[in-house]
Amino acid sequence: MNAKTEEITDKASIEKTAGKIRGRPFLSERRIQARVRELAAEISKDYEGKNPLVVGLLKGAFMFYADLVRHLQMPITIDFMVASSYVMASTTGKIKIHADVREQVRGRHVILIEDIVDTGITLNHLRQNMLNRSPESLKICTLLDKKDRREVDVPIDYVGFTVPNEFLVGYGLDYDNRYRNLPYISVFKKSE
Ligand code: IMP
Ligand code: MG
Repeated sequence: MNAKTEEITDKASIEKTAGKIRGRPFLSERRIQARVRELAAEISKDYEGKNPLVVGLLKGAFMFYADLVRHLQMPITIDFMVASSYVMASTTGKIKIHADVREQVRGRHVILIEDIVDTGITLNHLRQNMLNRSPESLKICTLLDKKDRREVDVPIDYVGFTVPNEFLVGYGLDYDNRYRNLPYISVFKKSE
């Protein structure tokens, strides 16, 4: 694992974004795109000569996925999973898979593409689920990592940005299924 992580600790930009979805972005389109290219270069190097099965976790990862794969330099097979977590009062959480991959996983080099890892419960469940199908290898790539919130230790191979514990929207991330189409990422404040 040699993922270079860019740590975001710029609280000033968070304050400025508070209350406004169209305020100054927490992560600008330009910054996201630059990092996505770096991640794609890193993944391309690691998978040179291979043909990985790249699985996007929907809905959240749709935009990141589409931007990432267009910069990958090796042949890939694309597929998707739709899963959701029921967030309970307790920490255990339950995951439901609404739509599964259609490709065979056994014997493939699989890369899971996620938007954001928070407690890690969702990804841990999906990772176990994938491992049960005997892939040749399994790696995980997430655009955002809310590291401080982690409850389940799940190994992540590629991280775009480490972010503080703020609720983020845009670039695939939603609040109540809205704001996913924003080309940048903003902090969402409900009360204003
Ligand atoms: P986990 O199971 O707690 O790691 O939750 C991961 C999922 O929660 C992500 O795939 C997102 O769908 C959602 N999520 C976590 N944090 C945020 C956020 O700040 N904005 C939007 N969705 C989030
Ligand atoms: Mg998600």
